[in-house]
Amino acid sequence: MSDNLSKDTLLTDDLLLQARNLSHKFDYTLFDNINLSLHKKESIAIIGNSGSGKSTLLNILSSLLKPTSGQVLFKQKNLYSLNKNDILDIRREKFGIIFQAHYLFRGFTGFDNLKISSLLSNNQINDDLLQELDIAHVMKQNVGELSGGQQQRLSIARIITKKPEIIFADEPTGNLDKQTAKVVMSYLNNYIKNNNAGMILVTHEHDLAWQCDKVFELNNFKLQEK
Ligand SMILES: Nc1ncnc2c1ncn2[C@@H]1O[C@H](COP(=O)(O)OP(=O)(O)O)[C@@H](O)[C@H]1O
Ligand SMILES: [Mg+2]
Repeated sequence: MSDNLSKDTLLTDDLLLQARNLSHKFDYTLFDNINLSLHKKESIAIIGNSGSGKSTLLNILSSLLKPTSGQVLFKQKNLYSLNKNDILDIRREKFGIIFQAHYLFRGFTGFDNLKISSLLSNNQINDDLLQELDIAHVMKQNVGELSGGQQQRLSIARIITKKPEIIFADEPTGNLDKQTAKVVMSYLNNYIKNNNAGMILVTHEHDLAWQCDKVFELNNFKLQEK
């Protein structure tokens, strides 16, 4: 095998997600011909003005929305060419999607919410994680009694309990003060480094974006690396 070939193989093995020539429009074109690659242990931030299409792009990358044209490949599998059940399996087992609306089970305790995730994924609840996110002491309370920031951290803990291969996060620290946001970001970044995972994060906060390995701006229909 030539050096070049082995290098290519290595790079391909490292590739988690690839967007090829993505375009999307609702009433008007949001973006056109976007390409992006995410590798293991890599975190990518996408910044851009409100309304520029960041959330739409993240929905497309995370299997939730079929693009007008183009492809999203998860480890060489073309997501939108798979049947519904295969997409669901990937979303459930491999992807951790953190959105602003947390979809926690209300009326249940924090612990119950984590337990469900732990049972579904066959992974243990990690007590260090709860300490680090400073929610260990509220696990017995009902979700509805938690502050917005505690709910947000609980939803992050729930996603991490699944041990996803890719974390997709849309403004994951929107409800948190600056210091807590920093702790959460460094936790997410450590998680992907220690678990061979990747992360794509959407934020309008440039400070947070620069805690990621790469930063791209969605502007004028294009994604440009900063
Ligand atoms: N499901 C939808 N149907 C029609 N228009 C939409 C839909 N989702 C988002 N949009 C529009 O697309 C544009 C980009 O939205 P969004 O991706 O949420 O941007 P951002 O996250 O950068 O603020 C907005 O003008 C929004 O109104
Ligand atoms: Mg958005």
